[in-house]
Amino acid sequence: MAVAIITGASSGIGREFARALRASGEANIFWLVARRREKMEELAEELGCPCRIIPADLATSEGVEAFLRALDSEKPQVRYLVNAAGFGVFGGYDELSETEVMRMIDLNVKATVRITHRVAPYMERGGHIIEMGSGSCFTPLPYFNVYAAGKAFILHYSKALRYEMRPRAVSVTCFCPGWVDTGFLGIATCEEGVTAPKPDSYKPLLRADKVVRGALRAAKRGRVMYVTNVYTKLQHLLFKLLPDRLLSRIWMKRLRKEK
Ligand SMILES: NC(=O)c1ccc[n+]([C@@H]2O[C@H](COP(=O)([O-])OP(=O)(O)OC[C@H]3O[C@@H](n4cnc5c(N)ncnc54)[C@H](OP(=O)(O)O)[C@@H]3O)[C@@H](O)[C@H]2O)c1
Repeated sequence: MAVAIITGASSGIGREFARALRASGEANIFWLVARRREKMEELAEELGCPCRIIPADLATSEGVEAFLRALDSEKPQVRYLVNAAGFGVFGGYDELSETEVMRMIDLNVKATVRITHRVAPYMERGGHIIEMGSGSCFTPLPYFNVYAAGKAFILHYSKALRYEMRPRAVSVTCFCPGWVDTGFLGIATCEEGVTAPKPDSYKPLLRADKVVRGALRAAKRGRVMYVTNVYTKLQHLLFKLLPDRLLSRIWMKRLRKEK
């Protein structure tokens, strides 16, 4: 019996991880965690194998604790942990509420670390931890600053954790996609009138099933980072070569409002 714990399983990238792991037979028991119970029930039916559905708002302490209680009571041997729950919202410090900004940190950073920290002892030999980074984790991004900084945290965290998990033969991979066609962009641009990239900036828009297959291959090869397509790989290279101030200027030119 191979257990996969997937947060953010109700849509997009998390849901595709569940589908891919089920199709390849690499997992046959799923723990699905997100807020929308009905979406996870639909997925559980589609997967057609035992699924534990945990509806929880992981941006809150209570939500994370609901998951941790289930974990400590069942003590599963975990083959895959995929931390895909996350969101970002474009906008400047004077355009977004403090609550919204803090929720990005609570979900993308705090919940990811708490869940990884507590699931790590339950990982089986040969297991895989996949954390969600982003193409945005390589450089500071004005008007997406907290999101990008949070993803940079996850990249560094994953790169270091990898060495700690090595004696137990558990791989840690930070998955860094470019723009992917999921619910993400609708949420990222949901605030009316705030500073955000111009609509044509989200190209190329990648397919979630395709990038997830690539991420799984990378995890199985023990790669610490998976950057999806050629465009994002090129971006990654430029981020290494060019100074932050130049990159920020280029990014600012792609924003809808002139600041
Ligand atoms: N799509 C992209 O372009 C892109 C690019 C780079 C990185 N990423 C990262 O990829 C990950 C998955 O995003 P996606 O593209 O698949 O977007 P998505 O379709 O919006 O999925 C996000 C998932 O996170 C869950 N979630 C959101 N808020 C939550 C909360 N407070 N508590 C628990 N679960 C919550 C959502 O479920 P509920 O709404 O049911 O709670 C959903 O299952 C995120 O970490 C995102 O930052 C996405």
